[in-house]
Amino acid sequence: MVEEKNNLMDKIESLCKRRGFVFPDSEIYGGMANTWDYGPYGAGMRKNIKDRWWKKFVQDRDDMVGLDAALIMNPKVWEASGHLANFKDPMVECEKCHGRFREDDLENNPSAGVGAGKCPDCEGKLTAPKQFNMMFKTFFGPAEESANVAYFRPETAQGIFVNFKNIIDTTRKKLPFGIGQIGKAFRNEITPGNFIFRTREFEQMEIEYFIPVPKKDKDWEKYFEDWRKEMIGWIKDLGIDVKKEIHELNVPKDELAHYSKKTIDFEYKFPFGQKELYGLAYRTDFDLKSHGLDYTDEDGNKFIPHVIEPSLGVDRSFLAALCSAYTEEKVKDEMRAVLKLPVWLSPVKIAVFPLLKNKPELVKKAKEIFNGLKTDYVCEFDDNGNVGKRYRRQDEIGTPYCLTVDFDSLEKDDVTVRDRDSMKQVRVKIKELGDYFKYKL
Ligand code: GAP
Repeated sequence: MVEEKNNLMDKIESLCKRRGFVFPDSEIYGGMANTWDYGPYGAGMRKNIKDRWWKKFVQDRDDMVGLDAALIMNPKVWEASGHLANFKDPMVECEKCHGRFREDDLENNPSAGVGAGKCPDCEGKLTAPKQFNMMFKTFFGPAEESANVAYFRPETAQGIFVNFKNIIDTTRKKLPFGIGQIGKAFRNEITPGNFIFRTREFEQMEIEYFIPVPKKDKDWEKYFEDWRKEMIGWIKDLGIDVKKEIHELNVPKDELAHYSKKTIDFEYKFPFGQKELYGLAYRTDFDLKSHGLDYTDEDGNKFIPHVIEPSLGVDRSFLAALCSAYTEEKVKDEMRAVLKLPVWLSPVKIAVFPLLKNKPELVKKAKEIFNGLKTDYVCEFDDNGNVGKRYRRQDEIGTPYCLTVDFDSLEKDDVTVRDRDSMKQVRVKIKELGDYFKYKL
């Protein structure tokens, strides 16, 4: 079973490389461990994820505003936020092969638990856990000395907290309201891996939702539950079957982050195991209080708002959507691999083919159609190889529709439109293509 599942991960990783979704970083120089670059289709898909998140949670809501804060902030931010003191993971080291592992990863691996005290690679003895700070250090200015140490942000959230007053002053938002931000975060992870699941550089889509001081638990639980439902809705949008593929973990008290009173991890059943996809936390007034910030309401009452935080990773959204969409089907005697992505998520919406490359009249017509559609939809023109191969390629990219211009098209001014999932083909008049796609894409 595990072998079969890992095999699925290998297939997805290989498709990502073969088709231009994800490449190993700096590959021509031997790569960079656990660092990845997103190719043309990967970049397109990530953009779709971020655009939809922004539209759904920032643009379409009148209780939300957006922000784009710096990646390297004043180091005092991290002192105040508690990250310098607390943003640590327990790490164990193998005394024999010197491999380093997150203790919590081993706890989930019954064959090599810390209790068993054995290295999962060589069965050597493991050291007692040591706390390892995951902040990524750098230096500000020319001198590499301790006075100039700075940190790449390990979460986008602090950029939001430190701008709380600026945002209140400029937008005059009243509680409850939220601030959303998309951006890179960096963590010196001990054991990154599982393709793009855990990397040292990744992107987050975070919301800090500010609420009045709760008088009783029910007062914050209400907002927490609203955001839990919003997150479930978003997960469904990604094409994930929530009932089958998602597990909500109520994070035990002793494992909560230093700022959290309650956290739910939305765990996805990845091929390599059930792991955190997103987190939803009740951060209380911890952060605003740490930064010495408060809020004055219309009646002049001054207090520190509390915070609910839905935190989503772009890279994990990408990976989970790919895992859920990846399908293999037998077609006649062949296997076809197809990414059954939700249409909004597909990096290419329509591919346009002339049936034959060496018939200028077909190529000309196909180019005209391509030029007509490409300003409204991400389209691709392809005249390489036989049409069957071109379909297979678009199936693996997840393109919902392929149009083929054949000899009948020259007579009847129509094309075949082939549906990715059903593989059914229909003929549509060229002048009606705009209307045809308006309702489908
Ligand atoms: N501001 C809260 C926060 O950062 P987190 O659970 O540490 O909470 C939130 O991270 C989300 O960011 C995770 O649920 C995951 O989607 C993503 N994430 C965290 N670490 C990551 C890593 N090393 N690689 C890829 N994504 C990561």
